[in-house]
Amino acid sequence: MRNARSVMRKPGNPFIITGYHSPAYFCDRQEELSWLVEQFDNERNMVLFAWRRLGKTALVHHFFYHLEKHHKADTVFVDLLGTANLSDAHKRIVNAILNKFGDLQKGIGAAFKKLLSSLNATIGFDPLTGAPQLTVGHASSQMVAASFDTLGAFLSERKQPVIICIDEFQQIVEYPEHGVESMFRTWMQNFPMLRFVFSGSHRHMMVSMFSDKSRPFYRSAQILPIDALDQVEYSKFIRAHFKKSGKIIDEAIIEFIFSWTKMLTYYVQLVCNHLYARGDSINAKALSEVFETIIQQYSHQFQYYQQLFTSFQWKLLSALAKEEEVKNPLAKEFIFRYQLGAASSVNTALKALTKKEFVIHHDGIYSLQDPLFMRWLQKI
Ligand SMILES: Nc1ncnc2c1ncn2[C@@H]1O[C@H](COP(=O)(O)OP(=O)(O)O)[C@@H](O)[C@H]1O
Ligand SMILES: [Mg+2]
Repeated sequence: MRNARSVMRKPGNPFIITGYHSPAYFCDRQEELSWLVEQFDNERNMVLFAWRRLGKTALVHHFFYHLEKHHKADTVFVDLLGTANLSDAHKRIVNAILNKFGDLQKGIGAAFKKLLSSLNATIGFDPLTGAPQLTVGHASSQMVAASFDTLGAFLSERKQPVIICIDEFQQIVEYPEHGVESMFRTWMQNFPMLRFVFSGSHRHMMVSMFSDKSRPFYRSAQILPIDALDQVEYSKFIRAHFKKSGKIIDEAIIEFIFSWTKMLTYYVQLVCNHLYARGDSINAKALSEVFETIIQQYSHQFQYYQQLFTSFQWKLLSALAKEEEVKNPLAKEFIFRYQLGAASSVNTALKALTKKEFVIHHDGIYSLQDPLFMRWLQKI
């Protein structure tokens, strides 16, 4: 991993929109990084949560980059996005750990073979490239519990501390198997020398998982909510990257980007990425063309969303989008302006939209979770 990174080429566009490159292309998060390092140094497990696309995953990679660079830990990153059951999660975990530590090319020794068989994993060869390939079979809950023990023991014996990030951890709540939370909790408890970072997009679910007295993970980790990036720092970062290629971007343009994207990191990056790619000067006209291009790119997806809602829910979404922020969606004035009928219907629809996380209720304000979707709805 470390070698792969050190030879990584410079990105053609400094505004990265997928994954993590290196600290030079990552803005700020100094406080969050120090907090994470402090938890790590003191053997505490950590929980990160925020809405999607604010930068949790990138922050974990930034933290791991720091740990690897200073030889403080070996890092393992597991993404549970799209997993539907415990066996899927197990596959991802075994894959991540063995790809990191097991040398698949030559490590076919007896000990490694034994480890593989206890994990229900085999090594085959890619028919096209001939490269060794790991296959992890389906595992029952019991097998997963045993496998967690084997992996825990394997990782705890290593000289360097090992830290494992389980990203999109809220996924485990959806698994059909019983006692999944307890199983993960037991894994964590049985191997106190392994460090865990649990990261998730579902704010409420993550908080209740770790702060609800009746749940296995209650108070088992330190919690850090991730907010939008600091505007002053982000503005400096953007200007500096433009300046490096001889381009000047006005403060007013940056402010416009921040308000249009509502500071959602991914969209700020996306707008800057497009703006940077243009050869012409950076002015309000160029910016509005970029906004338009981006909205167009997503419009198929947004149109498809309509199928997910009743026509009333869609109407309410559209009203919320037009207002951008609504303190009291049950107030007469709002209902009247958008012809929404009875407050009780608004209330029911609002609950459904919040549950689906298309609408968020934060600091007493209702708004759409996805600012680009909001911009699109404002236009139709
Ligand atoms: N601090 C940052 N500086 C620059 N780009 C960032 C930063 N944080 C996130 N990004 C970029 O924003 C996008 C979304 O971040 P990501 O970590 O995937 O969000 P999340 O995991 O919260 O959904 C990614 O393309 C990432 O490269
Ligand atoms: Mg993520």
